[in-house]
Amino acid sequence: MTDEAIVLEARGLEKRYSVSRGFLRGAATVRALDGVSFQLPAGRTLAVVGESGCGKSTLARAVTLIEPPSAGHLFYDGRDVAGHSRAELKELRRTVQMVFQNPYGSLNPRKTVNAILGEPLVINTKASRAERRERALAMMAKVGLRSDQIDRYPHMFSGGQRQRIAIARALMLNPRVVVADEPVSALDISIQAQVLNLMMDLQEELNLAYLFISHDLSVVRHIADAVMVMYLGRPVEHGPKDVVFARPRHPYTRILLAATPRVRAAERAERIVPKGELPSPLNPPPGCPFHKRCPAARENCAVDVPALRPVDERLVACHYAEEMA
Ligand SMILES: Nc1ncnc2c1ncn2[C@@H]1O[C@H](COP(=O)(O)OP(=O)(O)OP(=O)(O)O)[C@@H](O)[C@H]1O
Ligand code: SF4
Ligand SMILES: [Mg+2]
Repeated sequence: MTDEAIVLEARGLEKRYSVSRGFLRGAATVRALDGVSFQLPAGRTLAVVGESGCGKSTLARAVTLIEPPSAGHLFYDGRDVAGHSRAELKELRRTVQMVFQNPYGSLNPRKTVNAILGEPLVINTKASRAERRERALAMMAKVGLRSDQIDRYPHMFSGGQRQRIAIARALMLNPRVVVADEPVSALDISIQAQVLNLMMDLQEELNLAYLFISHDLSVVRHIADAVMVMYLGRPVEHGPKDVVFARPRHPYTRILLAATPRVRAAERAERIVPKGELPSPLNPPPGCPFHKRCPAARENCAVDVPALRPVDERLVACHYAEEMA
């Protein structure tokens, strides 16, 4: 972790989806992302956490250029993606790779490891068949797979090994940013730590920047440098991991953290959520989006929208952040 250059920056990202509410009621708009900004330095990990539906995967798709945002800007190495030529975009897509949650679904069952790892090289380079195999073998060694496994198919591997294959595939084109969307949550608890440790070793060796999406704060505690907690498409608390974990200032972060057992590993896999239902993103509440579930809510919270603002070394969107000591 030597290079502190900002490799990726998001400014005011928004994503709106138009969804049908049925024949009589017409279309409605979901604000899946509603003003998301962050900076990601090379070699570092920003963890994005929050309940199901808060916009994590939407953010992943925007950042990896799979689906453009409705508004806002993305900068890679300080340059606005909007100004990129077609050729530059193609090049950029190589340097931002994604690892998905489900290693069963994301690997083609009819292809061998050799073919899976060689595929990005076929599309993007002129490497010969022999060179591709050689580079696949080198990458397998990096992620802890044996060379004699190269001609096997995904079903012949365990879940953890499959996720190693997915990570290897993501790294074949030497990316600088890897977006990992719940990369270990489909794995057994005992395997999760191995894959996380592998990701951390690879990060150090290759100076990779990770945007690491997880609903599991005990995983985040292990891997993140910075944490961004999202609620209904907006960051509600964002700062260095140690600061946020030591003294969370947003009631939502506090609830998530209080519900995260440190030791009782068997309970970790459960999704822990605050009381009350998550409001429909089609019809978000006025005022603070969290007010209907917030134990600290006061009258004005139902009316005044809290801005994301700096409070002792992190950003937080709560009118009463200073009181959350
Ligand atoms: N293609 C789409 N069309 C309409 N709405 C969408 C679409 N994709 C996502 N949404 C909505 O946007 C919101 C954010 O969804 P997203 O998948 O980003 O959440 P998430 O945080 O990744 O959730 P999970 O933890 O369940 O993976 C949700 O309300 C979802 O229903
Ligand atoms: S602004 Fe009010 S409702 Fe929102 S998190 Fe803070 S105290 Fe709770
Ligand atoms: Mg998701």
